Amino acid sequence: MSIDFRVDKTLCTKCGTCVADCVAMVLAMEDDGFPAVRAGKEDDCIGCQHCLAVCPVAAVSVLGKKPADSLPLAGRLPDADRLETLIKGRRSVRRFADENLPPKVVQRLLDVAGHAPTGVNDRRVLFSVVDDRAVMAKLRTDLYEQIGALADSGKLPEKMAFFAGFVKVWKEKKIDPIFRGAPHLLVVSAPADAPTPEADCLIAMTTFDLFAPTVGVGTVWGGLPTWAITTIAPEFKARLGVPDSHRFGYAMPFGRPTVNYHRTVQHAPAQVHRVS
Ligand SMILES: Cc1cc2nc3c(=O)[nH]c(=O)nc-3n(C[C@H](O)[C@H](O)[C@H](O)COP(=O)(O)O)c2cc1C
Repeated sequence: MSIDFRVDKTLCTKCGTCVADCVAMVLAMEDDGFPAVRAGKEDDCIGCQHCLAVCPVAAVSVLGKKPADSLPLAGRLPDADRLETLIKGRRSVRRFADENLPPKVVQRLLDVAGHAPTGVNDRRVLFSVVDDRAVMAKLRTDLYEQIGALADSGKLPEKMAFFAGFVKVWKEKKIDPIFRGAPHLLVVSAPADAPTPEADCLIAMTTFDLFAPTVGVGTVWGGLPTWAITTIAPEFKARLGVPDSHRFGYAMPFGRPTVNYHRTVQHAPAQVHRVS
């Protein structure tokens, strides 16, 4: 495989930073002083593009990516106070408007979440999205029906028996404890043969979750939908487009919140054990 590593020799200062930052040690400084791919090492490249990102003078292109197409970082990063406020101020949303989010907003969230790191830069996390509330409504109705049928025939897994109560409130009051009435659902999965599929999925979802409030989107980690789909009604995995070869990561209902939080909560300090 050619990684198409190119150096603009009119810009390169021969500083060696790209070589020093290459985790797979694919690059080396050549006799002419410029960086280049080491003979026979091209296939070791994990595609992280650090060489492109780290070059102070934007001289490096790789894998067909040019530095001019990257977002510059100088002066654009959020400051620590604002980022801390975002992290401390994000809340689980359980009250959603019954409307579709603008597709552009959903796409932006997915694009950002798609930048989350993956082990060995595997980058095969699949984002399965229900982006239409009518599809979500059908999924919801069918899942409750399926769980209800299992409950009625005594076939709910013992540890999941409490789901029968959710079916009851759904049937009687149209209250949806599983998806919290959200108009959208995100499910992340990754190939079981990826180096770190579980972590990849959770990091991708955490990224989605954290960015969401900045574009007016509310999220809630879906332990209940995850259990429902993985343990009670696994046929819903295929319906959500999760391939058989994938490890199911997690589910996250989301949508436009109808609740506003005006201040942070006050958690106890992190439990820290200092190793000596
Ligand atoms: C792994 C995980 C699974 C969760 N599952 C659910 C869920 O199924 N339903 C729900 O309403 N909240 C769920 N939550 C939200 C937690 O209850 C929530 O994070 C916690 O109460 C703290 O509230 P906060 O997120 O607003 O800080 C889940 C959270 C996590 C981290």
